Amino acid sequence: MQKNYAAGRLRFTTDNTRAYKDADAIFIGVGTPEQPDGSANLSYIATVARQIAETIEKDCLVVVKSTVPVGTNDKVEQFIHDFLVHDVKVEVASNPEFLAQGTAVRDTLEAARIIIGTDSQWAEEMLMKIYEPFNLPIVSVSRRSAEMIKYAANDFLALKISYMNDIANLCELVGADIQDVARGMSFDERIGSKFLNASIGYGGSCFPKDTKALDYLARQNGYELRTVKAAIAVNNDQKTILYKKASNRLITFDGLKVAVLGLTFKPGTDDLREAPSLENVPLLLERGAHVYAYDPVGCDNFKQRYPEGEYNIKYVDKPEEALSGANVCFIFTEWSEIKAVQPKEYKKLMRTPLVYDGRNIYGIEEMQDAGVEYYSIGRQAVVENKDLKSNNSYNPGHRQYIA
Ligand SMILES: NC(=O)c1ccc[n+]([C@@H]2O[C@H](COP(=O)([O-])OP(=O)(O)OC[C@H]3O[C@@H](n4cnc5c(N)ncnc54)[C@H](O)[C@@H]3O)[C@@H](O)[C@H]2O)c1
Repeated sequence: MQKNYAAGRLRFTTDNTRAYKDADAIFIGVGTPEQPDGSANLSYIATVARQIAETIEKDCLVVVKSTVPVGTNDKVEQFIHDFLVHDVKVEVASNPEFLAQGTAVRDTLEAARIIIGTDSQWAEEMLMKIYEPFNLPIVSVSRRSAEMIKYAANDFLALKISYMNDIANLCELVGADIQDVARGMSFDERIGSKFLNASIGYGGSCFPKDTKALDYLARQNGYELRTVKAAIAVNNDQKTILYKKASNRLITFDGLKVAVLGLTFKPGTDDLREAPSLENVPLLLERGAHVYAYDPVGCDNFKQRYPEGEYNIKYVDKPEEALSGANVCFIFTEWSEIKAVQPKEYKKLMRTPLVYDGRNIYGIEEMQDAGVEYYSIGRQAVVENKDLKSNNSYNPGHRQYIA
C-alpha cells in the first residue's frame, strides 16, 4: 500500500463525491452486521448506494464485496436507479470477499478463487479485466448464485468447526482424544486437513453473523436450515464450556485471581467481535473474580468495554504478570506469545496451577509432567484427583435441544 501510495496510484479520502464522480468501478465493502433478529443490517449498503446514485457522472459498475443476503444486489441496483441524478449507465455485480483477518493481503493476492456474479456481459468483462493481473481462478455465475456462494462457503466452515467441537465433547465422555481423531480424519481428501481443530468455538465478524443471516433467509422463505441451526446452537454452548467446567471445579470465583490469556477472537487481529472472551470475562467478573488479562493487541479494544477503574480487571503486558499468583487461568486465543509460555511456568508462577485451555495449545503429557491441572477441549483432563475428573468431564445435560 505504501508503494502504490507513493506512486500516486492509491489515494484515501472521506469525500465520497470526489471518489465516485468519475469512477469506472466502485467496490462496496461496508459492514453488514447482524440485527437482533439475526437478519443482516443493510443500512450501510443503502447509504452508500444512495451516495453513489447522487454523485456519479459517468457509466459505472458497482461491485458489492460486502456479504449480503441473496437478492440484495437486485435491490441495490434498483435503489441506485431510483436515486440516480445524472443520465448514466449503472450496473451492480456481486463479487463476494473470502479473505480472513490476519492474512488479508495474502488472501487477496493468492485467493483460491474469485467469484463474479452478474448476468451482464459488460459487467463480467469489466471484472475479468480488473482481476486479470491477479492470475487466479475465476468463477463467473449469476448474481444470486454469487451471493449464495459466500454464505454457503462460510456456513460450511462454521458447520465444520461446530461438528469437530461436538465430536470433541463426545471424545471427552468416551475417552478418545480429538487431536488424534482429527489427525486420523485429515488424510481423507474428501474431508480435508484444515478446520479440524476443536476449540471454544468460532467468533469474529463473519461466521456468527453469516450463519444467523442464512438461517433468517431460509426462515423467510419458509425453509428450516437444520444443519446451520445446529452449528449455531453448538457454538453458543461451546463458548462457555470451560467456564462451566471451572464452575464445577471451584466452589467460588469470588476473590480469586483469574488469569485470562487472549482476548481477540483469533490471533493476528485486534478484533473482539463475538470473541469467546466477551462471553466469559463478564461471567467471571459477575462472580467476583479479579481478572488479569493479557493480549498482545486486543487490550485497548477490551478496555473500552471493561475499563480498569470500573471493573475488577487489570490489563498486563506479559502473560507471566497475569499468571503470577493466579488461582486459575483461562486461555482463549492461541497467540504465539501465549504458546511460548512453557508448562513449567504455570506451575512455578500460579498459586494453584489450574489451567483451562480453549485452544488445545499444550500436550496432555507435558502438562502432566509439569504438574499442572489441565482441562482442554476434547481431550482427557490432567487431574490427580479422580473425583475431580468425573466432575469436570463434558456434561451433555444442557444439550437437550439436540434430541
Ligand atoms: N472481516 C472479514 O474478515 C470479512 C471477510 C469477508 C467478507 N467480509 C464482509 O465484508 C463486509 C465488511 O466487513 P468488515 O469486517 O470490514 O466491516 P467493518 O465494519 O470493520 O468495516 C466497514 C467499513 O465501512 C465503512 N463505511 C460505512 N459506511 C460507509 C460509507 N457510506 N462510505 C464509505 N465507507 C463506509 C466503515 O467506516 C468501516 O470502516 C461485511 O459485509 C463482511 O461480512 C468481511
